[in-house]
Amino acid sequence: MTEHFDANVVDEHILDEQRYDQHAYFEQIYARPVILESKKLTQVFQHDNVQRTILNQIDLKIHQREFICIIGPSGCGKSTLSRVVAGLDHFDSGEVLMDGSPIHGTSPERGMVFQGYTLFPWKTVKENVMFGPLMKGMSRTRAEEMAREWIHIIGLDKYENQYPHQLSGGMKQRVAIARALVNEPKILLMDEPFGALDPHTRQKMQKHLLDLWQNINITILFVTHDMDEAILLADRIVALKANPGEIKEIIEVNLPRPRTPELMQSDAFKQLKAHVNQLVHADDDAHDPAMDNLPEIPRMTHVSNTK
Ligand SMILES: Nc1ncnc2c1ncn2[C@@H]1O[C@H](COP(=O)(O)OP(=O)(O)O)[C@@H](O)[C@H]1O
Ligand SMILES: [Mg+2]
Repeated sequence: MTEHFDANVVDEHILDEQRYDQHAYFEQIYARPVILESKKLTQVFQHDNVQRTILNQIDLKIHQREFICIIGPSGCGKSTLSRVVAGLDHFDSGEVLMDGSPIHGTSPERGMVFQGYTLFPWKTVKENVMFGPLMKGMSRTRAEEMAREWIHIIGLDKYENQYPHQLSGGMKQRVAIARALVNEPKILLMDEPFGALDPHTRQKMQKHLLDLWQNINITILFVTHDMDEAILLADRIVALKANPGEIKEIIEVNLPRPRTPELMQSDAFKQLKAHVNQLVHADDDAHDPAMDNLPEIPRMTHVSNTK
């Protein structure tokens, strides 16, 4: 098994309601090393000769094995932040540090599961997962062994020789997760990974991801605009505001783990959701300018709805 597995990881996370002590839980997290840090991270985009600050002075520290969710209204800069941290985009000023050192471009130590970052359609499930280890120079035999291990963990053994088009949306995202985890990343960056899934599959994927996270040594930065998803998954929720994208508040989610969808019915969950909702939608006028002045659609048909 990979060094990701550590029996001691499990107990620490599973805190039942009686034993749950929010203060102690977060003390434990903050005592762990900082894996990823952004310091005054700023990103400016130019569009039609107008400069817009998309991310403004983002200061964030993510600790080892922490589960962080970034939430905010559409267009506030969530994807920009994840792309910058992934090393896919340059940024204008500030710093992004991994284990204390500045990042340079993409790296397998920052695994990516993005909605638009899809599997290789011409490769089988196994070949997709083997890709990272092969790129690192591992032998085919070892790469195949590692791929099989991860395909087994995500429960897709029977599908290892299938192609992406033969899989459901949920399965594809499971393969995408395995493809990232096989590289033993220090952090997994996920940008709305379940956004295209139906609600039932989405719920199953959330549980699957929590199960993975609770049993392996991985830190997760997860972008979503879904408040239920953020509260269900996160240790801390980073609420961003738009124009410019700034951290509005960082919320410690004071709900015991393991968390199940039933938790959504609890008063504690509802209170937290009301708070997050108020943060995310407080300045709804500061939204994505691309959504301003939506044109009126001219009527192009003479067919009446009543005939
Ligand atoms: N490469 C780019 N060039 C110019 N503007 C961009 C670019 N990428 C994103 N933007 C703009 O930055 C803003 C934030 O985008 P994004 O990070 O995708 O938001 P979110 O993921 O929170 O919905 C949007 O207004 C978007 O139009
Ligand atoms: Mg986005």
